[in-house]
Amino acid sequence: MAALFYEPSTRTRLSFEAAMLRLGGKVMGTESARRFSSALKGESLEDTIRVVENYADVIVLRHDKEGGAERAAKVSSVPIINAGDGPGQHPTQALLDLYTIRRELGGIDGVTAALIGDLAKGRAVRSLAYLLSKYAVAKIYFVAPPSAQIAPDILAHLGEHGIAYELADELGAIVPLVDVIYQTRIQKERYTDPEELARVQQGCYTITSATLAAMKQSAIVMHPLPRNDEIATEVDSDPRAAYFRQARNGLFVRMALLSMVLSH
Ligand code: NCD
Repeated sequence: MAALFYEPSTRTRLSFEAAMLRLGGKVMGTESARRFSSALKGESLEDTIRVVENYADVIVLRHDKEGGAERAAKVSSVPIINAGDGPGQHPTQALLDLYTIRRELGGIDGVTAALIGDLAKGRAVRSLAYLLSKYAVAKIYFVAPPSAQIAPDILAHLGEHGIAYELADELGAIVPLVDVIYQTRIQKERYTDPEELARVQQGCYTITSATLAAMKQSAIVMHPLPRNDEIATEVDSDPRAAYFRQARNGLFVRMALLSMVLSH
């Protein structure tokens, strides 16, 4: 497995590597591929893929531009796994998120979820909403300041699948209604305008022990991680804090995905 990462990563890259090693395979790769690979010398993504496909049976790619994985897949003779394409999609995160919901709550049909935070620039929530639309979920709340709300392409997709959703910029009234609180980080590195960033920072919420007190006993708190301060550390010891279990599930889901992709 070759891991080509053009953007920072801890969980995604290491869990893919751990997954392949546990399956008995071998791994190689480059982090900071913009700086440490021939991308710095001006090589196109397409050319890089045409070379790396000769050295590996599967390529795990985190590109820094939306559509990067699709471009790579068009020229590659080996499977490309999208490990995040800029602000576009993060499908393997969504797979492990769904697996987590199923394990924690016993199923996905009928679930009500609140996706919270930087929904405009966060790719994890975009992919999760897509994947939730394959199930008979009861309702999805998108909770964000207006300028960081989920993009219309996702809402159109939910509409096509008949999924009920609601946009909100206040979290309080929604907390007691949901089975899943899915909190996300403000994607600071994707902002060019400091004023816009400050506006979004002001409008976002922190999950605290007060949030836990208002939640259903059976509900869970998820987060793709890394976290900044959008979940207070006081939440970590509550059994409903599922985010570290969620990160662990990434290992198993990626093992399953690699073995599926490589057995064809
Ligand atoms: C996410 C990502 O990279 O999109 N992290 C991850 O893969 N677990 C979320 C984020 O960076 O905020």
